[in-house]
Amino acid sequence: MSLYVYLEPDREILAERGPEFQSVGGAIVHSMAELETHLPRYPETLLVLIGASVPLDEALMFTAYQRLQRPLIGVVLVRKQINPAEVIRCLQAGVRDVVEEADWDSVRQATSRSVDISKALSTSIRSGAEVAPFGRIVTVFAGKGGCGRSFVAVNLAVALWAGGARRVLIVDLDLQFGDVAIMLKLPPDRSIAGGIAMAGRLDEPGLRSIVTPYRPGVDALLAPGNPAQGEHVRRELVLEILDVARPHYDFIVIDTPAIVTDQVLAALDVSDWFIPIVTPDLPTLKTVRLTVEMFDMLEYPRDRSLLVFNRANTQVGLTTADVEEAIGMPFASLVPSSRDVPISVNQGEPLLLTEPLHPVSRAIRQLADRCAGTETAPEPKRGLFGRRKKVTR
Ligand SMILES: Nc1ncnc2c1ncn2[C@@H]1O[C@H](COP(=O)(O)OP(=O)(O)OP(=O)(O)O)[C@@H](O)[C@H]1O
Ligand SMILES: [Mg+2]
Repeated sequence: MSLYVYLEPDREILAERGPEFQSVGGAIVHSMAELETHLPRYPETLLVLIGASVPLDEALMFTAYQRLQRPLIGVVLVRKQINPAEVIRCLQAGVRDVVEEADWDSVRQATSRSVDISKALSTSIRSGAEVAPFGRIVTVFAGKGGCGRSFVAVNLAVALWAGGARRVLIVDLDLQFGDVAIMLKLPPDRSIAGGIAMAGRLDEPGLRSIVTPYRPGVDALLAPGNPAQGEHVRRELVLEILDVARPHYDFIVIDTPAIVTDQVLAALDVSDWFIPIVTPDLPTLKTVRLTVEMFDMLEYPRDRSLLVFNRANTQVGLTTADVEEAIGMPFASLVPSSRDVPISVNQGEPLLLTEPLHPVSRAIRQLADRCAGTETAPEPKRGLFGRRKKVTR
């Protein structure tokens, strides 16, 4: 069992630093490719120490990806020299600490601090699951088609999954024209239609038999392959499915059709978070305004709504403030318009997985943080960079 791994392609540096690392049970890899194969084989790994000879961009790309894939792992970067601009870039990418190679004492301290943080995080994730055994239901909707509901729902589900830190179910309640299967490139063999015959007596194995696994920890309950079957999915069945699913997931994200159907109302009734999506055009704005008013009438709490402005940067003469004023609610997340979105949709690969640092991915992660209540999670403390005075200016 090895909690640490040290990537250093430079043989000379390795000859100097490697033995000490190995003496505390650390593993050594010589290339990024070797590191990529090492991590899945040693899932207990809590720390990756990236050596000074690895190019910074490569190290940061790895870190950003890792943060999603295995958020518990801390990355500590060794550099020949450090400067403030680089430290900021590293922090933004999610590196836990950057230390100078000449100061190997600091490397030791940084690695042990990072392992302590990972251990504390893993305990809090586990105990968090014990405290809140019931999954929170997040429903994404809009009063008009084509606003990006399915794109946001799918990527939000992946963001909430956080590389395996949480269990997530995505439910496609667009029973006639559901797109979740396409967006995740999943076979349409199993669907919510399989639940129709189990209505009234659905149990966990029954639910398992109709969901499609996507990644370890993410399942999808797809829309029926045959749109006609959608009519037989009653409101009661939707509630039953959510009831059976709740104890087994941390989050259930629901994608919806453009019209508020009976099934959608059922889901909204039991939702913890409402995610209305609005795009910068007047017809959409009008429908969202109406939806918000309908919500007020139904007495859904406003502080549970996280309004998303999708394609926020599109120039159509409406400012963010105009839109907020028109709806009477502030935005929780501004998702920019990008050509990479339709590309990711066509490829069936969530942008959040393929490009975790993309501005669109960042905006959706911010939304996920709001849902998970982690948006105020403390940034790595200054103390972590305790030796900041050594930063060269
Ligand atoms: N931020 C964005 N930037 C660029 N294109 C986007 C963005 N968001 C969504 N789109 C594109 O808009 C189209 C509609 O997106 P999506 O299918 O997610 O919307 P929807 O509201 O679920 O639509 P439908 O009514 O068909 O269910 C897709 O082609 C998608 O690629
Ligand atoms: Mg859709």
